[in-house]
Amino acid sequence: MEIRIYKDYEILSQSTADEIIETVKKNPTATLCLASGDTPRLAYSMTAKAALANSIDFSRCTFVALDEWMGIAPDNEGSCQYFLRHYLFDHLDIPESNLHFFNALSSDARDECKKMNDAIQQKGGIDLMIVGIGMNGHVGFNEPGQSFQQYAHVVDLDETSKVVGQKYFRETTQLSKGLTLGLQHMLEAKKVLLIASGLKKAGIIKKTIEDEVGPNIPATSIRTHINGYVMLDEDAASHLAGRSDR
Ligand code: F6R
Repeated sequence: MEIRIYKDYEILSQSTADEIIETVKKNPTATLCLASGDTPRLAYSMTAKAALANSIDFSRCTFVALDEWMGIAPDNEGSCQYFLRHYLFDHLDIPESNLHFFNALSSDARDECKKMNDAIQQKGGIDLMIVGIGMNGHVGFNEPGQSFQQYAHVVDLDETSKVVGQKYFRETTQLSKGLTLGLQHMLEAKKVLLIASGLKKAGIIKKTIEDEVGPNIPATSIRTHINGYVMLDEDAASHLAGRSDR
């Protein structure tokens, strides 16, 4: 695992977008797994802009959404699917069959998880995975206490995730469960970028980097990844040992 620190959110986002573009240029049939949320929003907009400006062909890539709120319809602006389509997929020419989302309205959530696991396996794994970090150290919806060894699964959301998650919705929304890829997917991905921005993430980033690796802070799992990068802006990095006195 390597830590990379960028001056601000804009430069962090540009570097993340560059990683996506480079991955697709090198391997036009790459499989990418993407988180939604505030952190990657600008990176995805920059990716879409660069892809259009430079005629980069995304049409043979496969995209897998990292997670979804159970029971939330894809046309709800707070859903992960809506977010990924709005900021990225709608701007790229990708066949629908190359886009994989959890169907959060399915009556058979386990089958949804199996479909995601199978789709990833059929593609030979994930080439590039972009994840954020929750205020409680979650990755995707892998909440504190969960095993590192899981693939896609259904999760009872942590209280923090239910409260913080309200920021994505126009009105107060009942959030209780999530569907998510597991940390095992992340550990098996060929390359992982964990991105974090802002002072509000500085505390959990410090714990992720400096506390013991273990399920109490799911994000610590990235420290065991040989091709894992924790990409931070100065604010998110500001509590790390050796930087807090700057
Ligand atoms: C969303 C996801 C979550 C977020 C995390 C940080 O698909 O997987 O784990 O990455 O909650 O969210 P933001 O970026 O909104 O701070």
